[in-house]
Amino acid sequence: LPQAHTTGSRKTRSVNEHLIAPRRTQRTVSYKWQHICGGVLLTAQWAFSAAHCRTPGLRVLLGELDFERRTGDEVPCRVKLQIRHPQYDGQTKNDIMMINLQCRKLQMGEAIWPARLPQPMTEVPTGTDCEICGWGTMLYPEFKAATQLQCVNLPIMKTETCNQPYGGAIHDKIMCIGHGRGGQDSCQGDSGGGAYCNNICYGLVMGGLYCADANYPGVYTIVSKYVPWAVTVIRAYMAKQNTGGYNRKRGGNGRGKREITR
Ligand code: ARG
Repeated sequence: LPQAHTTGSRKTRSVNEHLIAPRRTQRTVSYKWQHICGGVLLTAQWAFSAAHCRTPGLRVLLGELDFERRTGDEVPCRVKLQIRHPQYDGQTKNDIMMINLQCRKLQMGEAIWPARLPQPMTEVPTGTDCEICGWGTMLYPEFKAATQLQCVNLPIMKTETCNQPYGGAIHDKIMCIGHGRGGQDSCQGDSGGGAYCNNICYGLVMGGLYCADANYPGVYTIVSKYVPWAVTVIRAYMAKQNTGGYNRKRGGNGRGKREITR
């Protein structure tokens, strides 16, 4: 988040997740963890992130706030499944994924709490302020993940207004969030994290052209459109655990470059 303000004592930090993946450092065989994306905790075993965040070896850290300070609230989790939306088109359509987590000693409480989701298919009025947090880069186009969780409050923009700069690319399952003055935005590394409007997770950070540009606001997947899908996935895997009968389906593809960069 460029020019975001730090909120070290955020109370709702609980719903933020830190998705990390191993990166082999040159010359050595050791792995160094690297920040990849944000996420939204749904239950003790499931989280949302962006489909384009799918990464081999992904891990999730719950209860994180500051990469350089351990508070004891951090809970590392293994990722059992990364289920991208079956209609993810590698671009802006259905850029959402369900992550199946396995966390040791996970306790819901002060530091970790599942997000509130909107009623299926409901919409928030334009102009509503939403809080977006993440460890994404504060420098663009260079990438340097923030060490402390950064948060901004920005209003939901009218799709019509947003479609002018984006040339009609804003379809009915994505929305823009920004005030049009520039300077505040999500950015690379914030993807998959939530946009919380009235404390309900209405959006997932997806993309945008540049970051914090006055003309190009951030673009978010509209969560309410995917609540039924999430319920289906959770039910299907619960059934599978009980009967062993569900065949895991994988969909989407990784090809294509988006106009709205991720
Ligand atoms: N796709 C980016 C990511 O993976 C998010 C970019 C958000 N861009 C923006 N201008 N708000 O983190």
